[in-house]
This record gives sequence, structure tokens and C-alpha cells, in this order.
Amino acid sequence: DMVTRCELVAVRGVPLPSDTAELWGQIWGFQARPDDLLICTYPKAGTTWIQEIVDMIQQDGDPQKCCRAPIYERIPFLELCPPRPLPRGFEEAAAMPPPRTLKTHLPLELVPPSFWEQDCKVIYVARNPKDNAVSYFHFQRMNQSLPAPGRWDQYLQTFVAGGVPWGSWFDHVRAWWDARDEHRILYLFYEDIKQDLRGEIQKVGRFLGRELPEPVLETIVERTSFESMRENPMANYSTLPPFVFDHAVSPFMRKGTVGDWTTQFTVAQSEWFDAEWAQRMEGSDLRFCTRL
Ligand code: PPS
Repeated sequence: DMVTRCELVAVRGVPLPSDTAELWGQIWGFQARPDDLLICTYPKAGTTWIQEIVDMIQQDGDPQKCCRAPIYERIPFLELCPPRPLPRGFEEAAAMPPPRTLKTHLPLELVPPSFWEQDCKVIYVARNPKDNAVSYFHFQRMNQSLPAPGRWDQYLQTFVAGGVPWGSWFDHVRAWWDARDEHRILYLFYEDIKQDLRGEIQKVGRFLGRELPEPVLETIVERTSFESMRENPMANYSTLPPFVFDHAVSPFMRKGTVGDWTTQFTVAQSEWFDAEWAQRMEGSDLRFCTRL
């Protein structure tokens, strides 16, 4: 068994896996419901983490219920179009009884308009771009369905130029940040969740209108630590065959830390990146530096 590493095809200027681009019309036409919750992230920003937190909250902290299926089945990935006979994300979502929680990596302008027409709640998670780039590099090594990343220095340039799957990190976090008051968007940071897991879980609970009694909160904090999720087969993607996710190349639950970029970036790469970052974020009041 094998999968082929996909080509990227631009959809309105955003490079997406070709199978997603081919079915774009169906994704764009997806029918949201008012009680849908959309989890949105740039890839590798903490998607799985916030997915597990949200599911734990929705299941009132019941670990058994959260073990009912792997995370990618509990929360369908809207624009994922794996080869047949596997179901497409939007098909799984359509077959799911409400209330639904869905995952997407789409930039704001590519989110199907029905989510806004239905005034759905959205949880967005952003991660500082250096750690995000490092995590993505290792993910593209291990995920055999995405393009191979090549060498790190070359990858970093492609990342900054927005040539990686789902496009520019800068455009993604900026546009979602600017939209956060126009829609029902809870905008979170990976670094904040890392620093204060309990407090951020409470924030999500309030956003979802859920009471979190102390024992429930305690269980969720415990179950969503990096160590717990790394060992949890329903959260760590070990249930996918190795010809899709090759954890021997780099585990999905790789390090789970803030500041790992310092082990990957050279000083020169970091300085170059800072300059690019300053330029590409000019005029935005979104800040990451202080969170590192
Ligand atoms: S994906 O493929 O886009 O859904 O990946 P995503 O889940 O967004 O990102 C994976 C990175 O998140 C880290 N992770 C966590 N960090 C801290 N605590 C917990 N509980 C946790 N769960 C996942 C994971 O380790 C990846 O980051 P890196 O830096 O590569 O370790």
C-alpha cells in the first residue's frame, strides 16, 4: 500500500492539495448549520489539541466518550479529500448528526459562505510562526500525502513565500485576527494554552456556554496535556497506517513545546525571518513576539 504525495493547485491564489482543489466547488457549497462549531487553524498550530479540548468539554469530561473514535473521525476535516474509498471530509460532515464540530485549515476568504450566513461559532488557534514552520517541516516529512518538504533552508523560504499547503501563514493569521469581532470567533494562541491550560479550557467552556465543574475541569486538564495526548491512540494519529503518517520519520506528537525553533533555525535564518515577519505583518496589531 502506498499513497502518492500530492501536487498543490492554487484555489484563488492559495495552494491546496490537488484533490481538494478538484472538488473545490463542493467544498465552497458546503451547507453549514447554525449549531455547527468550526475549529480553524493554520496547519500545525495546535489543531488536534483544541479538538481534544473541545470534544472533552462537549462530552462533559467523559474520557470513555472521547475514546469512541480517533480525533479525525470525531471531528471531520472539511476540505480533506483522500483517495476513494475513503470518505471526503465534507461528506462525513454532511452525514453527521447535529450539533457538529468541524475542522478546517482554510484561510478566511475560502471558508464556505454558509458558515457566515448561519452565524456559526468559530474557534481559531494561532501559533508563533517560527515554531509553526518547524512543526510543519517535520509534518511534511512524515505525512506521505503532502509534498516532501526538501531541505530546511529551502523549506523555510517556501513557507515565508506562502508556497506551502494552505498558503501563507502571515495572510492566514492576519485575516482571521481582523475578522474576530465581525463574527463569533474565539481567537486563541498555542503559547497561551501551553502556559495556562486550565484558564484557556475555561475560556473555551465559556465561549461554548458550558459549565465546567471542578472535577470535570481537572479531568480535561489531565487528558489534554501533551504527555496524555501523546500516549492516547485516539488523539495521536497512530491509528493511521504508516504509509500515510510515518511516525518513524517524525512522530505526530513530536515535541509539543514553545520555542523549539531555536534548535532548528540558524541565527542568520532567524534574523532574516524576523525582517520578513516585520514586513509581512506591517500595519497589524497582532503580536506574537512577547509570547515566546
Ligand atoms: S494538524 O496536522 O494541522 O492537525 O496538526 P496540529 O494538531 O495543528 O499540530 C501538531 C502540533 O501540535 C502539538 N500538540 C500539542 N502541543 C502541546 N500540548 C498538546 N496536548 C498537544 N497536542 C498536539 C504537536 O506536538 C505538534 O507540534 P510539534 O511542535 O511538531 O511537536
